[in-house]
Amino acid sequence: MAVKIGLLGLGTVGTGTAQILLDPTGRNPLLEEITISKVGVRSPDKPRQVELSEGVITTDLESIVNDPEIAIVVELLGGLEPARSLILQAIANKKHVVTANKAVIARYGDEIYEAANEAGVYVLLEAAVGGGIPIIKPLKQSLGANRIVSIIGIINGTTNYILTKMTSDGADFGEVLAEAQQLGYAEADPTADVDGLDAADKIAILASLGFAGRVKREDIYCEGIREISATDITYAEQLGFVIKLLAIAQGTEGENSQQLELRVHPTLVPKNHPLASINGVYNAVLVEGKPLGQVMFFGPGAGAGPTASAVVSDIMNIVAILKSSGTNNNLDPLLSCVHQHFCQI
Ligand code: NDP
Ligand code: HSE
Repeated sequence: MAVKIGLLGLGTVGTGTAQILLDPTGRNPLLEEITISKVGVRSPDKPRQVELSEGVITTDLESIVNDPEIAIVVELLGGLEPARSLILQAIANKKHVVTANKAVIARYGDEIYEAANEAGVYVLLEAAVGGGIPIIKPLKQSLGANRIVSIIGIINGTTNYILTKMTSDGADFGEVLAEAQQLGYAEADPTADVDGLDAADKIAILASLGFAGRVKREDIYCEGIREISATDITYAEQLGFVIKLLAIAQGTEGENSQQLELRVHPTLVPKNHPLASINGVYNAVLVEGKPLGQVMFFGPGAGAGPTASAVVSDIMNIVAILKSSGTNNNLDPLLSCVHQHFCQI
């Protein structure tokens, strides 16, 4: 029997997600078992790039999270409200949730994961950090045996795109920002990108997972790229550096405790550093763990296709579990470890 899902949002990421789900040919057969039942939007008459059956699109978002036939709610609205309330309502109705919303998870992750653990449902968020790069699950699962020492990332595609174009073409800040918006990389309010707030949301999530503790979003030092000028870029270049907006989570060990330093700011990166060559909309996350050493995750960090790839893989993970267990009650221990670590203080 098909698993019915409800999409909240049919913008850049929602459209990319629907496109994959509506054309499963040549992909994993599991995709054929997923049906888009309802799609919630703000403006129902807006032209769309996907063909959905009549009656699927609605402006009544609550009808999606309260629909007893929908097993998975996919939140792709962005912003804090109504996204947070709808996620919580979906969880209360024992629906699994997939979200790309780092702003909500960075601020309300503990509340959401506590509710999800109580309800026995998954909340998966692979798309929330690094767009198409698998980083959330690898950090918790494949690197789970390590003590994490540091996580350093270029985790905002818009600002990396802007800095790259300013460096390579001497392009004007405003013009390149407009381009990034056109390409679907920027947030609805691009201030979140340009001022480093989006990167701070993402490093809060990565640090919560990597360092197994709750990170207070407001504790993160945050400085964006507004003040970076062509002159700064030229001088950096002459001195052997490139300027990158880095998000840094660095553990420091005291005698009896571990402290965590969290910051987002433009940084002079030596040209021979692995992060120096990450250009355009690409993101990279350099994780150092003990005993592993360093490992770098790299790939397209924003945009419809890459982000939808991460969203749909989360949906498929849940569908695979639903299909194999036939019940909501047996949470997969590896996937649910994301919950446990988020709630730990
Ligand atoms: P868009 O602004 O392109 O799309 C948002 C969608 O949600 C639109 O369909 C809009 O409706 C709908 N929507 C927003 N608010 C409401 C509301 N109050 N009521 C009803 N519908 C609403 O956003 P994106 O697709 O770019 O981003 C979605 C999420 O994915 C965000 O959390 C973002 O941070 C995250 N993300 C985005 C990436 C990207 O590259 N764009 C990458 C990784 C994560 P309508 O179409 O009618 O306007
Ligand atoms: N606005 C975000 C970025 C989208 O530019 O990285 C991906 O999270």
